Amino acid sequence: MARRTSRYVCQSCGTVTSRWAGRCESCGEWNSIVEEGDGGIGAGPAKPKRKGRVIDLVPLAGETREAPRIASGISELDRVTGGGFVTGSALLVGGDPGIGKSTLLLQAAAALAARGHRVVYVSGEEATGQVRLRAERLGLAEAPVALGAETSVEDILATLDAGPTPALVVVDSVQTLWTDSVESAPGTVTQVRASAQALVRYAKTTGATVVLVGHVTKDGQIAGPRVVEHMVDAVLYFEGDGARQFRILRAVKNRFGPTDEIGVFEMTGVGLVEVKNPSELFLGDRDRTSPGAAVFAGLEGSRPLLVEIQALVAPSPLGTPRRAVVGCDQNRLAMVIAVLEARAGVRFGTHDVYINVAGGLKVGEPAADLAIAAALVSSLAGLALPHDCVYFGEVSLSGAVRPVAQSAARLKEAGKLGFARAVAPKGGIEPGESGGMAVRGVETLAELVAGIAAGGATRGNVATAD
Ligand code: TYD
Ligand code: MG
Repeated sequence: MARRTSRYVCQSCGTVTSRWAGRCESCGEWNSIVEEGDGGIGAGPAKPKRKGRVIDLVPLAGETREAPRIASGISELDRVTGGGFVTGSALLVGGDPGIGKSTLLLQAAAALAARGHRVVYVSGEEATGQVRLRAERLGLAEAPVALGAETSVEDILATLDAGPTPALVVVDSVQTLWTDSVESAPGTVTQVRASAQALVRYAKTTGATVVLVGHVTKDGQIAGPRVVEHMVDAVLYFEGDGARQFRILRAVKNRFGPTDEIGVFEMTGVGLVEVKNPSELFLGDRDRTSPGAAVFAGLEGSRPLLVEIQALVAPSPLGTPRRAVVGCDQNRLAMVIAVLEARAGVRFGTHDVYINVAGGLKVGEPAADLAIAAALVSSLAGLALPHDCVYFGEVSLSGAVRPVAQSAARLKEAGKLGFARAVAPKGGIEPGESGGMAVRGVETLAELVAGIAAGGATRGNVATAD
């Protein structure tokens, strides 16, 4: 007797189980498990239709060539992709609804089309009229982009096959796609996965670059693009601060380029505009005189970036004081506080501590430790830090301040933006690298605290590395 081939798939992470449950054991999401017919993918071991072919195995060393790319001319986008879209690759652009994915990709499509490439933009979410309206608003209506509104993968592929192979195909969004090859309802993980697979295969076989747009939703109702991440060559996330106008494009996976680059855009009335000097943006309207703010000379990918780290340390009415962070890692804050307490004798035990990275940027670098520590001490002591000073350095559990990569680039960026002083790890800067900045090298957190208490970052043992 044939067995019923129903299976239960978590719409959030794609885990398959044999029975329904209220909560996915794999990702912990509630109400995300949906019954799906077994549409072939993941079906039991089928009998092989043909005998395997012997493939050529080659040595690691051999002739290689740089993957051919097509640059869009939007430099912030090209920076994140690693120099342009690689031909024959598939990309996923993820992000919250309304963040600007469609806008960015329409601009990229128009830019490539204007450079003479054949570009097809398939919208599964908006009617052609809506996309046209948007193009008009963006001033791109004249760009020779071939526009279609369709959600059937078979129809999309047939359309693409009917014309010359495009350089770029944008499909907005992957959640709306459905394919006849599987039986599940549109929007389910099985459908999204099968549809994405078909489009990725199209990219590989024809050499077109396929860009898939994916929404990230909190409530696992629609299949998240997470299941697609494994299939594509690059995953870019478009993020931003709801209240502000700027957006950050970040590569989280890239088989053909770096993954730590960011592209910074500003959403304006005429679409996304590149921000050429993000430091100016993130330092924008800085209050130079209040305690608790330290400027961190950071690095995003290959690009130095200055951001303000704000701390608020206030007496706590609670038995267990609060520690809250926005824009950096909670564990790093806990560590910096612990090291300040244990190695520098600064006590936070009865104080609430809040850390905020200005401008909505997320700082993941350990080099931010020293700036966090400086902001904390400044707020606790009620002493403003010098307004023309930047901080960077990694703090170890022993209280030592350790050198970080690319000190010269950090100092150069700070100098360019009008800063005159830096507090940095001792010994991390070669003579001649300080770019005219007065650099105070610190070996331990205790030295940093003493410097702030003495009323200025560079009072005392000023050492100019030049
Ligand atoms: P959109 O690209 O539709 O977002 P997504 O595809 O990620 O869902 O962008 C939607 C938001 O962007 C919308 O709130 C309006 C805003 N916007 C502008 O501010 N200026 C513009 O020129 C455009 C086209 C959109
Ligand atoms: Mg959209």
